[in-house]
Amino acid sequence: MRVLLGITGGIAAYKATGIIRGFTEAGHSVKVIPTANALRFIGATTLEALSHNTVDSDLYTDVDSVKHVALGQEADLVVVAPASAAFLARFAAGLADDLLLNALLVTKAPVLVAPAMHTEMWQNPATVANVATLRARGVTVLDPASGRLTGADTGPGRLPEAEAIVGLGLSLAAAQGAGILAGKHILVTAGGTQEAIDPVRFIGNRSSGKQGVAIALAAIAAGAKVTLIGANLEVSTSGIANVISVNTAEQLHDQVDLLLASTDVLIMAAAVADYRVANPLPEKIKRSVAGEHLELSLVANPDILAESVLRVKNENLKTTVVGFAAETAGSLERLATLASVKLASKGCHMIVANDVSQGQVFGADHTSAYLLSQTGESALSQGTKQQVASQIVNFVAGQMSAAADILDQ
Ligand code: CTP
Repeated sequence: MRVLLGITGGIAAYKATGIIRGFTEAGHSVKVIPTANALRFIGATTLEALSHNTVDSDLYTDVDSVKHVALGQEADLVVVAPASAAFLARFAAGLADDLLLNALLVTKAPVLVAPAMHTEMWQNPATVANVATLRARGVTVLDPASGRLTGADTGPGRLPEAEAIVGLGLSLAAAQGAGILAGKHILVTAGGTQEAIDPVRFIGNRSSGKQGVAIALAAIAAGAKVTLIGANLEVSTSGIANVISVNTAEQLHDQVDLLLASTDVLIMAAAVADYRVANPLPEKIKRSVAGEHLELSLVANPDILAESVLRVKNENLKTTVVGFAAETAGSLERLATLASVKLASKGCHMIVANDVSQGQVFGADHTSAYLLSQTGESALSQGTKQQVASQIVNFVAGQMSAAADILDQ
């Protein structure tokens, strides 16, 4: 998605760096347009480095590309943060005397404005009227946060947190139908199942759910309707509206089974226990009773991924099925080999293979993954789990139409 970020002149302009980071880390391209006054507070070099895009806010350069029109037309989302009182007045009046205001008059994309100023300026009747005018025209104007302001004073006027601005911007764009997965229902499983031994003990695994939750958020950012089935998640699911919590592999199996037919893509990021205790005990096992040897009898759990692939084939479902493979590979070559073996054995459309040797991946913020599809397309994805999640979502979206024919063969 293409995000146009306007920055106006105010002390909070430096906080725009967090907003640029939030959008780029979620895989979106950011074009920054600072006003001339914004450049008194933050340098164009910083903005260029973080956005990986040139910054030129002069209305009268590069005129042959008609950029004052093109920027607004090409944007999927426009965010102005921080927005000064002067900017709100000029935007409400429909002025078009700089590049940012020109782009705003042209764009049909959702516009999110995050004001930041002193409390008195925010509460001034002129500002109140300008905000009301903009809201009446469909612009989303955030209320500023309360707290310490530039001077010794406190009150409403602070720029809201970057995460909140990015999150709201992404949901506005998704609601507008922007994004490569617009109109698609994506089912993501995340976390690790727990299989009871007795009421206090279980067989579990090291999955935190971080990667699966990041994929769910990236799919939402790509415009999809997402259902997350979370097994014992250790991370927050804020920003995901539909979350189903499960504990065991059998519960996860039942939920996937229920939703599979209405799902465009199933992404099985959860670490599912292959075995469960045959007869979990209703009371806590006591060492004084069990003695020095305790034998547990395990029975196989359903292979949810394999069963889903089978249902897609047998029932002629249109669901694209994406499996994960946690492999102790040690090298990229070996990871690629193991990924193709796993893809063949599971029969799904795509596989995301992680190298988990030497404690990599589980619970960590950075990861690398080798993506492979039945069409033979592959990609190596590295970075934060958010970046890898966006790359996985892009890869899946790119492969979806090709995938539809493969299981038919
Ligand atoms: N999976 C599943 N049901 C299971 C076990 C695993 O749906 N009972 C899914 C996982 O969610 C993942 C994929 O299968 O998407 C790969 O799991 P993996 O870690 O490779 O385990 P196994 O399939 O058991 O393969 P291995 O032979 O390596 O143990």
